[in-house]
Amino acid sequence: MFATRQISSIAKRAFSTSTSSNAAKVAVLGAAGGIGQPLSLLLKQSSLISHLSLYDIVNTPGVAADLSHINSDSKVTGHVPDNNGLKEALTGCDVVVIPAGVPRKPGMTRDDLFNTNASIVRDLAKACAEHCPKAHILVIANPVNSTVPIVAEVFKKANVFDPKRLFGVTTLDVVRASRFVSEVKKVSTEDAKITVIGGHSGVTIVPLLSQSGHSFTEEEVKALTHRIQFGGDEVVKAKNGTGSATLSMAFAGARFTNSLLEATVAGKKNIVEPTFVKSDIFAKEGVEYFATNVELGPNGVEKIHPVGKVNAYEQGLIDAAVPELKGNIAKGKAFINKA
Ligand code: NAD
Ligand code: LMR
Repeated sequence: MFATRQISSIAKRAFSTSTSSNAAKVAVLGAAGGIGQPLSLLLKQSSLISHLSLYDIVNTPGVAADLSHINSDSKVTGHVPDNNGLKEALTGCDVVVIPAGVPRKPGMTRDDLFNTNASIVRDLAKACAEHCPKAHILVIANPVNSTVPIVAEVFKKANVFDPKRLFGVTTLDVVRASRFVSEVKKVSTEDAKITVIGGHSGVTIVPLLSQSGHSFTEEEVKALTHRIQFGGDEVVKAKNGTGSATLSMAFAGARFTNSLLEATVAGKKNIVEPTFVKSDIFAKEGVEYFATNVELGPNGVEKIHPVGKVNAYEQGLIDAAVPELKGNIAKGKAFINKA
């Protein structure tokens, strides 16, 4: 009964979606992939999107035809590289979400994806800088700690970099943290809002459980911290060589995109999401990009929240994250600036 009610309310939301007058053109690059398809499905339900533009090197005409039968008001178009497909996909875009790139297999780190994904993200970023330089760019492709600086350097070279409009999507870390804590504390996920800062890989993912309002034993803190930092590995292992998180990532990516659209298109206030952005917080330590909670506004980043009060254990996690992040960021920058 509950399940039926839940499904019908989702359907009602989707079917009653009529597009807002100033709704956005949103592109998904990598739209035919494991994340791209469910992410596009979720975005098709948004009344803040007037045009959903799907780009991939393969299969987007089929994905677009399929999604275009859903009776929400947004237009859906599919593009492949032929016939200036990337230019067509990007021209006029307000938001570009990038899940294009290869996923991990068991035994790999996210950094092991660098060799393949760095050039994919670089080339897509070049196209964005040319065809939609003012768009908000949401980077999902791993390793996020390096791909975000890659996009920034490409935009800087094209003289169109606006740090308020570039986001590494770290939402999945807080989605996981919320779910894992809710299971341990036996509370609703609504009552398990966990701040996660740093970056998006292993020790750079820093959950601040002490700020949650819940109390934990030392054992719980260690186990939860490890699970939040290495939650991605659980999925990679369970998928046994066929990929990494796609459905939970699509959920998380849609949540972040919708929050950004609420702030930019709908003009809503006090929209706060964690995200990996250009930040002064650890700039003195050579870390130019850092994820904390960020208030979103009409132009993207409105206000970067500080880390806040942390305990000694969390300070230790931050101390371990900073040098790793510094290396990841430098690697991304060097990839674009090499002679
Ligand atoms: P996937 O292989 O299922 O899909 C990737 C898609 O990208 C494919 O359809 C492929 O054709 C496309 N692609 C490849 N090169 C392209 C190019 N030059 N232009 C456009 N499209 C291109 O992989 P996936 O599971 O969807 O994962 C995609 C990426 O997202 C991976 O790098 C993965 O590690 C990352 N990821 C990030 C997070 C996060 O929290 N930020 C979470 C999960 C996965
Ligand atoms: C995740 O956190 O699930 C993603 O970054 C994918 C991965 O490689 O673990």
